Amino acid sequence: MKQEDIINLGEQYFMPVFQRALISITHGEGVYLYDAAGNKYLDFLSGIAVNGLGYNHPAIVSAINEANQTALHISNYFYSESSVKLAQHMVEYSVLDRVFFANSGAEANEGAIKLARKWGREVKGENAVDIITMRQSFHGRTMATLTATGQDNFHTAFGPLVPGFKYVPFNDLEALKSAIDDNTAAIFLELIQGEGGVIVADQSFVDGVVKLAKEHNILIIIDEVQTGNGRTGKLYAYEHFNIEPDILTTAKGIANGVPMGALLAKEEVANYFKVGDHGSTFGGNPLASHAALATQQVLSEPGFLEHVNEMAYYLVTKLQELKEKYSVINDIRGKGLIQGLVLDTKSGPIYQASMDKGLFVSATAGNVLRLLPPLIIEKEHIDEAISIIDEVFGEMK
Ligand SMILES: Cc1ncc(COP(=O)(O)O)c(C=O)c1O
Repeated sequence: MKQEDIINLGEQYFMPVFQRALISITHGEGVYLYDAAGNKYLDFLSGIAVNGLGYNHPAIVSAINEANQTALHISNYFYSESSVKLAQHMVEYSVLDRVFFANSGAEANEGAIKLARKWGREVKGENAVDIITMRQSFHGRTMATLTATGQDNFHTAFGPLVPGFKYVPFNDLEALKSAIDDNTAAIFLELIQGEGGVIVADQSFVDGVVKLAKEHNILIIIDEVQTGNGRTGKLYAYEHFNIEPDILTTAKGIANGVPMGALLAKEEVANYFKVGDHGSTFGGNPLASHAALATQQVLSEPGFLEHVNEMAYYLVTKLQELKEKYSVINDIRGKGLIQGLVLDTKSGPIYQASMDKGLFVSATAGNVLRLLPPLIIEKEHIDEAISIIDEVFGEMK
């Protein structure tokens, strides 16, 4: 089909909730995507931090083919080899002990909220089900995760919200201290707020969270939906911050494009979930588990994360050069291969102009240009992206 016809059909039949670019992607290869009009794009968006291993990665292709030859879906009434091996791998490569597989980030976070509430009620008392989240956070679009999301603009049209959530400004320890009371079950946070504009937690704040959680017997839930799976140069962002989550959620890059989410917890917390407390028809089915296991195995190959860090260092060095050249760039923030350019102007037009020149990036939080390249990028791809961004800033009036 022609690009224009595909777009017209989409306009006619989709619910209009996405601001889609007028581009129809046909396929990808490595770190490049191609549209139906034959244009090629360097992908510094990675499906919003999903395609860490790019497109058509041989390990993922072969894992999916293998799943296809067995059974794509097996009910959670039964065990399947790929999902138990995946759970084992994720436990061995984290500080968590047990895993529940879901299908998205929001769904993993829903599970985290339920688990924290059950734990709070049984350990601390009937009313100890409150969860404190951060302003500017993003945790998903379901009712509970939307409520957990500390951005009023997402809430306005959809009340009544789920009771039992409190919000404090990110990186404000005093506010967090004041919000805690006997009914607090959990503190729920991203260590780098991705959708919020690539805002990195202060180490002193994280230290304070750990201390307060210990003093008041409160669970720490870390949302690594965006920052997990090697994105920050460690498998999980918590490894940068000297913090051990009681509950961790991840999704996006977990299976390199096959929809999946995971909820992980320490043994002593996970065990509050009993048979029937939670579930999912598709969660962890063989298709997703094959893709995820292959993805996790690549991420844990010796040298893989070193490559991410090497590329991140090179990218940040090049971004610093741009910052020196263009006063419109106020700040560069992030870790590993999640980087945000904080601009003096709206980032939307820069996102559009970059796309017009063959580079996908993302515009978030109004004035932040977010870069989420595949983890497999090489220096030549960074040079290519930087030269496009340089051209875009150079042409700005
Ligand atoms: C930190 C974080 N949590 C949760 C979500 C929701 O994930 P999903 O869109 O897979 O439901 C996102 C999505 O952007 C996210 O960045």
